[in-house]
Amino acid sequence: MIKKYLNQIIQGDCLRLFRDIPDNSVDITFADPPFNLKKKYNSTKDSLALQEYLDWCQQWIGEMVRVTKPTGSIFVHNIPKWLTYYATFLNKIAYFKHWISWDAPTSPMGKTLQPAHYGVLFYTKSPEHPKFYEIRYPHKRCRKCDYLYKDYGGKKAGLHPFGPLVSDVWTDIHRIKHDKYRDEHPCQLPIHLLERIILMSTDEGDIVLDPFSGTGTTAIAAKRLGRKYVGFELDEEYVRISESKLSQEEPNSKICDVWVSFFLNGIVTLRDIDWAEISQHYFIPEPIEDIDFAPIVPKNGSSNGYAPKKNGRLKNLLLFNET
Ligand SMILES: C[S@@+](CC[C@H](N)C(=O)[O-])C[C@H]1O[C@@H](n2cnc3c(N)ncnc32)[C@H](O)[C@@H]1O
Repeated sequence: MIKKYLNQIIQGDCLRLFRDIPDNSVDITFADPPFNLKKKYNSTKDSLALQEYLDWCQQWIGEMVRVTKPTGSIFVHNIPKWLTYYATFLNKIAYFKHWISWDAPTSPMGKTLQPAHYGVLFYTKSPEHPKFYEIRYPHKRCRKCDYLYKDYGGKKAGLHPFGPLVSDVWTDIHRIKHDKYRDEHPCQLPIHLLERIILMSTDEGDIVLDPFSGTGTTAIAAKRLGRKYVGFELDEEYVRISESKLSQEEPNSKICDVWVSFFLNGIVTLRDIDWAEISQHYFIPEPIEDIDFAPIVPKNGSSNGYAPKKNGRLKNLLLFNET
């Protein structure tokens, strides 16, 4: 990997910048390209003719696969219509792992069913031994009474104290709803969506490349999780916003020495293999059947363990480190 690109958002056209990236040199690639839906980006029209759009997509998808290491994975986010084409490209040059359905309402497209999910195609560069970690998300609970939403019947004794393994349908990550959390960008992804992908497919120190970096969501997720990043972005202003946000981030998304993804009041994603370590920092209900109405509680004494703001979160993480 060319050192000058590491931990940088580079302004320019991704197809040109890809030429500088050696074959098999990054651990994962993630792309959230323009959807050709006439979105108002600063520097792109987002309205190509069908074949022109598809030819262009085929080129950067080919580049993503080329630069990904044999142990690595390729992720592409888009609406289902375009993913059907992407899958036909990818099936020839990579190995299908999953079509992740991200439950998030999208704009109506005329006389159709109401679109309610985006897809993330998950391919690996090689068929054998790709890097992959099973991940878990917290049990869903009633906001008012704290009871588990799902009725596990007689199987409660076998429940994982933190929550289920993540499937290929993601319903617990929401689009950014409030303007105060948005940049001046028409389609910014939530950071914890990228954190989940990164925790699932990389290790500390690995390199994550995003050819359509926008205002830096992938890079921020990578930095918070102690990974390296490379971002390409055509628009100078989006690069400036990304750099400003990145300068305020630290690799601190941890409980003690374990990388996890946080959102608001707690952990939204952890690796299954890390639970043995993390569980030492929680009171777990006994007997475990009580988990129905008694959530796990952090031992650091705070009511929920974390605070939504970055600084607050850091403070609480330090509290964990002190225990
Ligand atoms: C869907 S947005 C990505 C948003 C990003 N995931 C985020 O959360 O901020 C697509 C981005 O690709 C950029 N873009 C469009 N054409 C490009 C190209 N040829 N090379 C690099 N970036 C490009 C646009 O400026 C836009 O910011």
